[in-house]
Formats: sequence, structure tokens, C-alpha cells
Amino acid sequence: MSQWPYRTIIEPFKIKMVEPIPFTSRRERERLLHQAGHNLFKIPANKVTLDLLTDSGTAAMSALQWSALMRGDESYACASSFFVMERAVRRIMGFAHVIPAHQGRAAERILFSMIGPGKIIPGNTHFDTTRANIEAAGSVALDLPCPESKNTSSMYPFKGNINLAALERVLKKSHAKIPLVLVTITNNAIGGQPVSLENLRQTKKLLNRYKIPLFIDAARFAENAYLIKLKEASSKSWSVRQIVHETFRLADGCLMSAKKDGFANIGGFLALNNAQWAQQARQMLVLTEGFPTYGGLAGRDLEAIAQGLWEVLDEAYLKYRIRSTEYVGEGLMKSGIPIVLPVGGHAVYIDAGRFLPHIPEDQFPGHALACALYLDAGVRTCEMGSLAFGKNAQHELVRLAIPRRVYTQSHMDWLLEAFEMLARKKNKIRGYRLIKEPKALRHFMATLAPIKSAADKKLARALAA
Ligand code: F0G
Repeated sequence: MSQWPYRTIIEPFKIKMVEPIPFTSRRERERLLHQAGHNLFKIPANKVTLDLLTDSGTAAMSALQWSALMRGDESYACASSFFVMERAVRRIMGFAHVIPAHQGRAAERILFSMIGPGKIIPGNTHFDTTRANIEAAGSVALDLPCPESKNTSSMYPFKGNINLAALERVLKKSHAKIPLVLVTITNNAIGGQPVSLENLRQTKKLLNRYKIPLFIDAARFAENAYLIKLKEASSKSWSVRQIVHETFRLADGCLMSAKKDGFANIGGFLALNNAQWAQQARQMLVLTEGFPTYGGLAGRDLEAIAQGLWEVLDEAYLKYRIRSTEYVGEGLMKSGIPIVLPVGGHAVYIDAGRFLPHIPEDQFPGHALACALYLDAGVRTCEMGSLAFGKNAQHELVRLAIPRRVYTQSHMDWLLEAFEMLARKKNKIRGYRLIKEPKALRHFMATLAPIKSAADKKLARALAA
């Protein structure tokens, strides 16, 4: 696209198939939210006008992906579709062994239960399912985000980095208990922030001293690579393919949710170089996922992933993707809404703690904002703060995750208008309290209730009398 003199960056695709989006009334949304126990995960999707809950499994597949589905080989063992997918992973990421799984967390479960209990797994910031799988296997998930990530408003370009000094201290003290280090690119839990090549290089160098392998959670590897291209001086002239290659060259294995940068609606994999670990992983795979050449997926899913992995490397796509996310961030800032800066790849994160300072952490300001937005505009988003992460939350964030190739700029303009109006009455937004909470991953299942103000209570009493 670089040959054009225009400022505007357009979607580098046209739309062949469309799906209607639902519109609801405010009264209907109030009823739905109440019925859902004030938990947005429980709202029927056909009652959501813009669904920004997640960028996972929500991508629009391309014409080539849909046609690849027809090539799906549904044989039980050694289906040709597995080899198509294996070839794509080997060529793009360079790992010798590719183990398919039905999604990222299944690959996580296999890796961490194989490693067993009593270990420590340091990382930049583990995603919630990763943490839950490490803990379920009896080990400790240790987050070591870089200090720059604490300040949501600084423009430090690589807030996703691991804290190298802290990692060095942990390695010195506990290296015998550390079977691997996991770096998540981009760092979803703290704002979709990228990790630099330099940080990966230094991490690898440290780990080499102790012969500890480096694994990458690669869910958004292409977005991370494009952000490196934009921000890391030493690789400005590199292609995304080269940056991706260098990223994985530094690693010994990866966990992948293909539902993000694989452009797939389902699927994932574990890829690694250690033949003994791979063999063990395949044995575990058979127990719960399936034969090692399909791992819980249909042949057609494997084809869609293979095609998706190639497509996501398209720089015209990545340029549009990163710019369109940034556009949403800029719009929110115009309405005075504090966001995590700089804007990352797949989502804009609102700092609800700063936006709603009248709501204390234990009344979930992020959740309060997400519910207010649903009530006002039928937009579904996701809290990533004290409700999702409990005491591990660094900030009270609300994530506006943008599904890949799904919404257009006017959808985003509509979203920005909704926020502009919400910002004007933000003082009326009230906190929430938990009524019922499951032990792990509570935000998926919890029931909450809005905290009533003294005036509300008085009014309710007056109405009841
Ligand atoms: N790692 C990261 C960084 C993720 O963001 C996710 C999922 C996973 C692993 C697990 O993958 O869903 O395929 O099992 N993130 C989704 C999200 C759910 O909304 O951010 P999965």
C-alpha cells in the first residue's frame, strides 16, 4: 500500500458475506442484564449490538480459508490436513514438533500437567487460563512485568516486556525449580502491549546460563511483530516474516491459541524442539484431545488455521489492524477517557480506575463501566481488573477487544459516540458487589449486583410503602 500518497488506511479486503447485528431497547437490556446476574458473559450474543468481549475465535475467515475447509481431510489418523498445518507452523515458526489442540488452553494444560507440580513458571504476565493451568498442575505462576507497565499513561513502547532484573533474581534463587519461562506476546493481561526483540534476546541470554528453555505464548505473534517493526529501531527495515522468524528463533517452544492471530474460529497448538517433551505431550494428548494428528480438531479446522497463519503475515492487513485499533484509542481520548498507552494490537484498554475514581477497587470500577456501556449502547466488553484477576490485578481495566476483519470504521464511530455520551454522566455510574463467585476464573461465572446509593434505597423504600 505504500505507493499511495493518501493518509487514509483502508480495510485491505472487501466483504462477500454479511451477518445482521441486533438492536435492543434500553428496557430490554436492563432486563437482560438483571437476568444475567449482571455478568456480561451470560448475555445472549443475539442481544449484543457490538461484541467487543474478545478477539478470540471471532475473526471473519477469508475466502481462501472457507475454500480450504472443503479440502479438510477427516481421516482419523495421519490426515493430510494435519501435514498442511504442520508445514505452516514449521515454516513460519520453525519448531520441529507440532501438536494440535482444540484451543490454546488445552495446549497449556498438556504442557503444564506434563511438567508436574512444585515448579515455578515465571513470565511477563500470564494470561488467566495459563495461570489457572499452571496452578491446577500444582505449580506457581509468577508474573514479572517490566516496571514501565505500571504507568498506564507513559508512551514507553514495549510495556509488555519481562522484567529482566527480577527474572535474574528469581533464576539465581530458584533456578532448580524453573522448568521454563513463558513470555506472552503481546502481553494481553496488561494492555495488549508488545514485547521487544531485545527483551526476548536478553531473556534468552539469561536462560542460557541456566539451560532453561524459553517458551512463547504466541496468540498474537503477528501483531507483536508488526509493533516491533513500527517501534524497534534495529528492525525497522525488516519484513514481518523476518521479525517473526527472529522471535521464534530465540524460543524453544510455543503455546498458540489459533483463535487470535491464526484467524481461526477454533484451534491451537503446542510447538517445540525437544523430542522427548513432544513425545510425552503426544501421549497426554491422546487422553483428552485425540490422536496426535488432529488433537481435538476437525481436518477442516487444521486447514483454516494453516491458511490463517499465512494470511496474518500480510503487512497491508497488519498495518490496517494496528491503525484501526489506534483510531479507537484516539477517539476515546478525545472524550477524556483514560486508556492504556500506547494502544496495543488487538484491543483498547480503558483505565476504569482513573475514569471512575469514585468507585473503589472492591466495587469493581471496570465491571461497572462495562455494565453501563451495555445498558447505554448494547456494546459488550470485558473487565480485566479486580474481578478477573483478584489480588493479581495491576490496574482496573476494561478491554475493548476488536474482532479481526469483522467491524468497519462506522461501527467504531458509533462506539466512540456511545462513550462520548457515557463520559458526560460518568458520576452516575455505581459500583458492584459479588453475590456468588466460583473459586477460579470467577469473572466467567460470577453473579453480581449493583450497589445502591442511599438515595436509591430511600426511593425503593418509598415505592414499596
Ligand atoms: N494466551 C493468551 C495470551 C490469551 O489471550 C488466551 C485467550 C489464551 C492463551 C488461551 O487461549 O482461548 O484458545 O484457550 N484469550 C482470550 C481473550 C480468551 O479473550 O483474551 P484459548
